[in-house]
Amino acid sequence: MATLELKDLAKRYTKNIWGVKKMDLEVKDKEFIVLLGPSGCGKTTTMRMVAGLEEVTKGTILLDGRDITDIQPRHRNVSMVFQNYAIWPHMTVYENIAFSLKLKKMPGADIKQRVQETADMVKIGELLKRLPGQLSGGQQQRVALARALAVKPKLFLMDEPLSNLDAKLRVIMRTELKAIHQQTEATSIFVTHDQSEAMSMADRIVIMKDGVIVQIGTPDDVYFRSANMFVAGFIGTPPSNFFTVKCVFEKDKILLNHSHFTLELYSKEFDELTEYNGKEIVIGVRPEDLLVVSGNEAVFTEEVLVVEPQGSHQVVALNLSETIVKMVVSAETKVKPGDKIGLGFNIKKIHFFDKETENRIALKSEVLL
Ligand SMILES: Nc1ncnc2c1ncn2[C@@H]1O[C@H](COP(=O)(O)OP(=O)(O)OP(=O)(O)O)[C@@H](O)[C@H]1O
Ligand SMILES: [Mg+2]
Repeated sequence: MATLELKDLAKRYTKNIWGVKKMDLEVKDKEFIVLLGPSGCGKTTTMRMVAGLEEVTKGTILLDGRDITDIQPRHRNVSMVFQNYAIWPHMTVYENIAFSLKLKKMPGADIKQRVQETADMVKIGELLKRLPGQLSGGQQQRVALARALAVKPKLFLMDEPLSNLDAKLRVIMRTELKAIHQQTEATSIFVTHDQSEAMSMADRIVIMKDGVIVQIGTPDDVYFRSANMFVAGFIGTPPSNFFTVKCVFEKDKILLNHSHFTLELYSKEFDELTEYNGKEIVIGVRPEDLLVVSGNEAVFTEEVLVVEPQGSHQVVALNLSETIVKMVVSAETKVKPGDKIGLGFNIKKIHFFDKETENRIALKSEVLL
């Protein structure tokens, strides 16, 4: 049982450098939270404050309701795994995993059992006598995981634990880590700047930018109901396409006028856009919501620039007035560079953003998604 609350948490390194400006977050018991954001947004700083490795400038950290803001790291019941493993090179795998248990003065027989149990869980049960130098990168990372998990922490923190592994191993470890989480049920926070890793692992994703949280939500929330253009442009491979359009109400229709196309909506379904009549807004369209259509169904026609086969699907890039537009089409679609294709929009999936604030214009119809 472990809940974590960060209240108005901030870290200032120097007069002008804020690692984290403001974090408010409630992590539920057994939850798997992923902190996601570009380099320098404050992910590691947040983790280090929670682990007690970094002094807090402002705010409070509560673990199970207990204020641990100023408690020594080793008395917090929090384990952390780092990107660079940080396992001790002169100790065997066994000694690495047993180290914290010895510090806790656990009886010898219990240590032996716990080390074996944890090592088996992360599939290094056969490697206990080896030194880290005799292990592959992936195996070393498993040692780091086992060492952190052996103490059965209330809270398990992982800071980009997979980033030193090759692409294939990363994907395997992702699945294994999720399975380990289901088994241990330890409340976990996992840091990554890889959005697909975040989407595939998280119960909820916390998206950060410049030291603040820009959205907290389930993978579906951040993908289908991105809070702003930053999130819509960060999540998804390829990310959303953006078009600036002028919104014009005409009888029972709304025309979205772009320099290269006009899109028609039924105004009844998009009531919330009324206040933008005559103004410019930005629409966000996911690559899979741009459709290849024929004849007069096409909203616009454009020449294909590049086709990127992905096996299960293809990514098609077009050049629309100096902006690259990307769409996802099925593997069977016959398309090659230079082809002229007609494009349509999956209207129900369009995201609307205020051009000034870049925030989402929420529609009532969204609840249907
Ligand atoms: N010890 C430090 N002294 C001064 N500034 C620091 C220190 N550590 C981090 N920073 C700054 O604080 C900000 C947040 O850094 P942090 O390491 O938390 O980012 P991050 O999100 O983990 O990035 P990355 O994805 O690159 O690991 C950055 O601007 C960074 O330069
Ligand atoms: Mg970091």
